[in-house]
Amino acid sequence: MSVIEFSGVTHAYGEREVLRGIDLVLTEHRIGIVGANGSGKSTLARMVNGLVKPDRGTVSVDGLDVARNGREVRRQVGFVFTNPDSQIVMPTVAEDVAFTLRRRGLSKADVAARVADALERFGLAAHADHPAHRLSGGQKQLLALAAVLVAEPSLVVADEPTTLLDARNARRISELLDALPQQVIVVTHQLELLEGFDRVVVIEAGEVVADGSPDTALGIYRSLIA
Ligand SMILES: Nc1ncnc2c1ncn2[C@@H]1O[C@H](COP(=O)(O)OP(=O)(O)OP(=O)(O)O)[C@@H](O)[C@H]1O
Ligand SMILES: [Mg+2]
Repeated sequence: MSVIEFSGVTHAYGEREVLRGIDLVLTEHRIGIVGANGSGKSTLARMVNGLVKPDRGTVSVDGLDVARNGREVRRQVGFVFTNPDSQIVMPTVAEDVAFTLRRRGLSKADVAARVADALERFGLAAHADHPAHRLSGGQKQLLALAAVLVAEPSLVVADEPTTLLDARNARRISELLDALPQQVIVVTHQLELLEGFDRVVVIEAGEVVADGSPDTALGIYRSLIA
């Protein structure tokens, strides 16, 4: 597992301070991040692969300062966006998944085999040659996950990966995340997704207000939002 360290991290968008002095050392296999809308979860998650940089403090992955080594860190960290449209880059479903594997020195046959395998795993095999933008919202979310995981990152950060999914596909993604050998950080409002996780961090108004086992942290979170 990687060591993800936030040290004195603050961030503001213009005047609005959205993270205030975050200190966290994340080493667990499966980590959940919860909190009310606008509490700063996505901002925090995006810092793990340098999509957002701290105003003060540092974020590091295995000792690499993300702000300075973005490209290197992004090779290890796969990021799944809430809005899958912002992640689709190629015309067809298969091409979109294959795009992640570009410039890896893989043979065409090798790429095709890995893409086929990923599409099968995510229930998208029948849509391989369909226009990616025409998939349903939930199918796009599955595609986004497939496109990230095909590259086998050592850490997967997923920002609400199941919001658009029906119950069956949400369960499918939940099981898939549970089975991943890789380290995962999941931001979600679907608290049942975090059952069995190793650690849950609760963010409120840009600060960590609870941090511990899912039972403990989610208990505090539930009473906070009650
Ligand atoms: N690019 C941006 N420019 C200006 N303000 C932003 C930007 N991104 C986020 N914010 C603001 O920062 C605050 C925290 O946003 P963030 O997206 O991190 O919250 P969140 O916890 O992920 O919320 P949600 O549960 O709704 O996804 C919000 O008040 C939001 O309006
Ligand atoms: Mg968010």
